[in-house]
Formats: sequence, C-alpha cells, structure tokens
Amino acid sequence: MILLHKELGKYANNPKQLIEELYNIIDYYGLSCSYREINVPNELKKKYVKTYYSKYNKDAYLRMRKDYNENKDNVLLLYLLLVYGFNHMIRFNSKGDFNLPVGNVDFNKNVYTALVNYLEFRKNNETIFKNTDYKQFLNNIEFKENDYVFLDPPYLISMSEYNKLWNDKKEIELCTFLDELDEKGIKFGITNLIKHKGKENRTFIEWSKKYNVYNINSNYISFNDNTIKNNSKEIFVTNYKEI
Ligand SMILES: C[S@@+](CC[C@H](N)C(=O)[O-])C[C@H]1O[C@@H](n2cnc3c(N)ncnc32)[C@H](O)[C@@H]1O
Repeated sequence: MILLHKELGKYANNPKQLIEELYNIIDYYGLSCSYREINVPNELKKKYVKTYYSKYNKDAYLRMRKDYNENKDNVLLLYLLLVYGFNHMIRFNSKGDFNLPVGNVDFNKNVYTALVNYLEFRKNNETIFKNTDYKQFLNNIEFKENDYVFLDPPYLISMSEYNKLWNDKKEIELCTFLDELDEKGIKFGITNLIKHKGKENRTFIEWSKKYNVYNINSNYISFNDNTIKNNSKEIFVTNYKEI
C-alpha cells in the first residue's frame, strides 16, 4: 500500500503524465475505458445487463494480473488492478500474489476525478506513511490545535482476515484510548460495523452513546449477482459536533 502511494505521489506535479501512462497500459491490455469512451459493445451490454464490464474485461484483467504477479516492479499495474478489480479492493494470497477477480467497473469519470483530486492533495500536503500500531503512532505525535484523528479499525463482528486478529479486549483498549484523546481535547472520527449477519458489537454501541453517531450508507457489491448488499449497519462516531 505504501509503495503504491509513494509511486502515485511521484506524479503529484504531473498528473497528465500519470494519466497518459495509465492509458497506455489500459490500451496495451485492451481494457474498456468509459472515461475515454472506449466502451463495451452494445451486444454485450444487452446480453449481460448488470455484469458487462466484468465480462468484457475479464481476459485482459487476468493477463494484467499475471504480468503484475510475475514482476511486481510496475506499481502502476497494481493501481490498475485496483481500478478494474473486484470492489476496488486489494488482496494478496500467502505467496504475495494479487488474487482478486475482475470487478464490474472500469476507468470511468469517478476514477479519473478521484485520482486527479488525490494528486492535487499530495501536491499541497506533505504526507508521511507509517506501518505501525495505532497507539505507538498516536502516542508519538505532538498534537496541535485542530489536529484530527481518523480511524478505520478492524471490525469485531465481521470475518475478514485482519478482523480475525481483533478481539473484544482490543476493542475495549481502542475505546479507552479514544476517551483519553477526547480528554486531551483532540478531535477524532471513527468508523465501525455495529450490526452484521445477526451479530451486534455491543462494546462499541455502548461506548458510542457518549459521542455523536452518524449512519453510513455503504454500497458493497455482492460477488455473486452484482447486487448491493445491505444487511449490515455501519456508523461513524465523532467527539465533535460539526461534520
Ligand atoms: C477496516 S481496515 C482499514 C481499511 C482501510 N481504511 C481501507 O479503506 O482500505 C482495518 C485495518 O487496521 C489494521 N490494524 C489492525 N490492528 C492494528 C493496530 N493495532 N494498529 C494499527 N492498525 C491496525 C488492519 O491491518 C487493517 O488494515
């Protein structure tokens, strides 16, 4: 992840060059690119009404994924795997190979805008990446007025790989840590999943009652039928009023 951010950041002063290099790769593999009106043929759109991007891009995507896995030096390939891959996610197997299937989306206007905005942000802000425990990281920061801490911790009640290492003790530690930040007057915002497949995260629900709670409408796409799943409840909690 850090490598990817570092590579993209190199283009902060030259977004055009990055976009051009990405287009070259997209064209080399023959992927669709709706932002440039390189579209999926109408027959395919009619035949696979909800999944035509994935049908059209599958072979090209798999070739790109194979090339990336054989030589991981080309980090722009990894970026495009995220753009064209399932739910824009990043996942590697135990051998370190990227292993998500093709997604049902291509390089469209939203992707373009997000990338250009990201590069603008990187141009105007010094960004430091750290891979360390949140407490170690936050305890070493000298907070100034208006500093803001955003956290997206593992979800206690869902079963992603990284969630398996998380438990109720760690959840309580995190809540206590945030209470301490609050006492020091440091603003924070934190997301969490509070209901999922019949389970509830009672620890977090109870803790959140003393702060401001907002519902999040997330659109996770089901792998099987490309419909939007919504049997879960996610919230965003802040210790300050304005949003
Ligand atoms: C819900 S995910 C964050 C997803 C990310 N915000 C995104 O949009 O892709 C939770 C992350 O917390 C990380 N994590 C687990 N324990 C941690 C700890 N003690 N300190 C910092 N990060 C931790 C996990 O490795 C995982 O990447």
